[in-house]
Amino acid sequence: MKYPLKLSPLSEQGFGGVIDVDESAIFYQSTQENPEWLSEAMDISDGLLLIKGLSDIVEYPERLVELSYLFGNEVENYLDTPTPRNMIHNDVGEILVISNRPPYDRQPPVRPDPPTTESGGVPVQFPHLKGWHTDQSFRRPPPDVSLFYGVEVTPHGQGQTLFANGYAAYKGLSDELKKKIEGVSGLHALLGTGRSRQAVQHGLTAMELLPHQQSQPQPIVRIHPVTKHPALYLCEYGQMDWLDGPIVGMEPGPDGEGAALLHELMVHFTGPEYTYVHEWDVFDLVVYDNRCLAHSATWFDGEKYDRVMWRTTVNGNPGPEYDGESRSWIPQEGQSLLDGLGEARWDNLTVNQVMSKKP
Ligand SMILES: [Fe+2]
Repeated sequence: MKYPLKLSPLSEQGFGGVIDVDESAIFYQSTQENPEWLSEAMDISDGLLLIKGLSDIVEYPERLVELSYLFGNEVENYLDTPTPRNMIHNDVGEILVISNRPPYDRQPPVRPDPPTTESGGVPVQFPHLKGWHTDQSFRRPPPDVSLFYGVEVTPHGQGQTLFANGYAAYKGLSDELKKKIEGVSGLHALLGTGRSRQAVQHGLTAMELLPHQQSQPQPIVRIHPVTKHPALYLCEYGQMDWLDGPIVGMEPGPDGEGAALLHELMVHFTGPEYTYVHEWDVFDLVVYDNRCLAHSATWFDGEKYDRVMWRTTVNGNPGPEYDGESRSWIPQEGQSLLDGLGEARWDNLTVNQVMSKKP
């Protein structure tokens, strides 16, 4: 298909596409005339699309929601969820605000130790860099696509977003490992339930979980419902269940057989040939497909810089694996998502941040 605006390669690693918007009127006209072109551009770019120059969204935030509907038929309204109100955009319920500035007060990820790689670069590969996840994988069905918009960003060199290509990483596995993970599921946990690797290692007592808070199995290899290609689908320390998992049917716990397999897969998944480091410019819009990519956030100097990001979440096409399932994360009447869990935990808080908030 010939696209109305130029789609250029984003990364040296061969995934991701970038669209430069010079005139937003022409861009929006193209999406009205051909509502499919952006999601097709995302699909052929292995699930990662960067759209640069949409400065109008700051003034017209509802346009971010309209764009989100181009990637799926359901955009989450955070007002319909137990999300703390201070994390939701004042005027637009579909926008989650991720910021270190009051009233949002979400602190930056912990700095890796050591803070740089041997060559002085930003740490990317697990386990040097921790926090790799796909959004809300503790839900069945999990969400499809996230849109992430930079209202106020940090200077290059910090506050990046990292992406790992699940398609290419799957392809790059040995035949032996592909066979080993065929039909196998990971067990994904809601943060704050005492099931992260660190919580289990510290011997914290896991909480009694209500039905909607239970950890959920997800296939390690997902077949993307649109491209039909296999992709790795995993998280690591913070968002897997290290008590009963992290791998269903394997010896559980941080020292078990399942942990060894997860470690091997995540080191591979986040290797330099499969990862892209996004340095943010203001007004960048990054669209990422959670069904085939993992991502992580990096440290920034929150004393010096304010960072304000807007996120929307698109649901609706997780693939036949989830056909006919009711949503695992919807609380029963009279219960709320976070009942018994104390203060809200968020999907890309790092393990250390979660732990430091524990009583
Ligand atoms: Fe995330």
